[in-house]
Amino acid sequence: MTRIAVIPGDGIGIEVTREAVETLRAAALASGRPLYLETLPYGADHFLKTGETLPDAALDSLRSYDAILLGALGDPRVPDNRHAADILLGIRFKLDLYINQRPVRLLADHLTPLKGRTTRDIDFVVFRENTEGLYVGMGGIFKKGTPDEIAIQEDVNTRKGVERIIRHAFEHARARGRRRVLMSDKSNALTYGHDLWQRAFRDVARDYNGIEASHMYVDALAMQMVKDPAQFEVIVTCNMFGDILSDLGAQIQGGLGLAASGNLHPGKTGLFEPVHGSAPKHAGKNVANPMGAVLSAAMMLEEVGRADEARLVEQAVVGCIREGLTTRDMGGGLGTREMGEEIRRRVSA
Ligand SMILES: NC(=O)c1ccc[n+]([C@@H]2O[C@H](COP(=O)([O-])OP(=O)(O)OC[C@H]3O[C@@H](n4cnc5c(N)ncnc54)[C@H](O)[C@@H]3O)[C@@H](O)[C@H]2O)c1
Repeated sequence: MTRIAVIPGDGIGIEVTREAVETLRAAALASGRPLYLETLPYGADHFLKTGETLPDAALDSLRSYDAILLGALGDPRVPDNRHAADILLGIRFKLDLYINQRPVRLLADHLTPLKGRTTRDIDFVVFRENTEGLYVGMGGIFKKGTPDEIAIQEDVNTRKGVERIIRHAFEHARARGRRRVLMSDKSNALTYGHDLWQRAFRDVARDYNGIEASHMYVDALAMQMVKDPAQFEVIVTCNMFGDILSDLGAQIQGGLGLAASGNLHPGKTGLFEPVHGSAPKHAGKNVANPMGAVLSAAMMLEEVGRADEARLVEQAVVGCIREGLTTRDMGGGLGTREMGEEIRRRVSA
């Protein structure tokens, strides 16, 4: 039986996860395959009540699930969002989920803000390195609060870390029949760290005959994603640039409410979550778009070997969009719950 751990988290994360979980139940019912879902309490409420973020024992037990579905973390009652960093970065780093996979796919022509673009033009995937770079928290502040203050944030690039994310991008391209992999860096300015990316990319590309390997500096790539997104199939980049590019990607596919992501390490428990955060100003108002969470759940189904259910859920979302049944952020009039119900009606049909 497939076992899924669910961490709804904070704010709208709780509302969108509820819809994703019920959609997973509907898909399992439709396919007749058992699915075990266990909800875990970690988030701001739990932290404020108990002082606990994500205990080591919980982290260990997460490894025993097939996958983790997460809503979002971040709550104004925890000003430094310590719990969010502990839980999200804790899972990503300690489970060594080095792949952040963010599909950028336009599901209906009218959703993109790019003039004249159609679903045929926007269909690529961004692979963001997820365990290194500027996010490792190495560095320090010297003479804090004085005019002589110095702040240093280290950018960590290891040969192993860089090579494995690049190799995964090529493996993904090969498995999905994609013909192009583009690596993006800033090696003209970051002449040490990103020189390593250049060399690793050239070396790995040699193992993948028939897949075109190309390169763009990240500033040029940001421009081209807007100007001519049809040229991209698979993009691989570092932690920092992947963070920014995938939000740009989310917008050209129709907005944050719709964007899905997976944090992966082949053969290990993966973590799936919508790209958006906990949007505290929308929390508890039944206005959040659950599609990003539902599509993240579909990605998860695919990864745990339930591709038929993944297709069913994706088609249900596409069906709703084509009929104009959406939440306010996408120009529709449905609430979070009603949106979830419409998706499930199509899953169960
Ligand atoms: N992975 C995560 O858990 C994650 C990611 C990003 C931000 N955060 C946290 O979330 C909190 C809020 O951050 P933020 O405001 O910068 O980003 P956010 O993604 O929560 O919200 C930004 C804006 O996007 C819109 N939006 C986002 N998701 C939406 C949805 N599902 N439906 C409708 N509209 C939606 C809203 O207008 C919202 O105000 C912060 O505490 C931040 O640290 C968490």
